Amino acid sequence: MEELYEKGLCKSIGVSNFLISHLEQLKEDCVITPHVNQVEYHPFQRPQELVDYCRSRDIVFEGYCPLAKGEALTHPTVIELAKKYGRTPAQICIRWSIQNGIVTIPKSTKAERIEENCKVFDFTIAEDDVEILNGMHDGRHVSWDPSFIV
Ligand SMILES: NC(=O)c1ccc[n+]([C@@H]2O[C@H](COP(=O)([O-])OP(=O)(O)OC[C@H]3O[C@@H](n4cnc5c(N)ncnc54)[C@H](OP(=O)(O)O)[C@@H]3O)[C@@H](O)[C@H]2O)c1
Repeated sequence: MEELYEKGLCKSIGVSNFLISHLEQLKEDCVITPHVNQVEYHPFQRPQELVDYCRSRDIVFEGYCPLAKGEALTHPTVIELAKKYGRTPAQICIRWSIQNGIVTIPKSTKAERIEENCKVFDFTIAEDDVEILNGMHDGRHVSWDPSFIV
């Protein structure tokens, strides 16, 4: 990947599911700091230490499974906030990621949901409510746990 980048064939190169220990290890093996790290990020999984670490090294934190594969959409707190803001639970989760400075990549197979998921740039979640969503972190993974990779 570094060779491709140096030849100008790739504009950016990155990694996925890298924790701090993995990124530290990469320093020994590589010259280029990855431009992006794609990691699980949703209200139940908010690895703030890793977000801060990435930020400190100018690595873009890209959050995958922002809806927790749909699990977050039925949580009473998310539903309550969706009602409060007149939005859908998915829009609350996506907007929350964005307000936390995370590049987010929700996925849907349905055109109307893709459209719904894009309509998140015309409202703001109040700081108090962002904090409530931040408090939902319980460490659960809906994809897989990269901490077992040494
Ligand atoms: N790097 C990695 O290791 C890794 C691991 C996992 C995922 N990812 C990537 O992360 C992205 C998203 O992940 P994901 O699809 O697993 O999780 P997700 O975006 O959190 O959730 C997708 C699920 O939510 C449903 N959904 C989407 N929009 C909705 C809406 N507005 N209302 C109700 N339900 C909605 C989808 O169903 P419908 O399709 O029926 O709408 C699907 O079941 C993908 O691009 C994936 O490739 C990366």
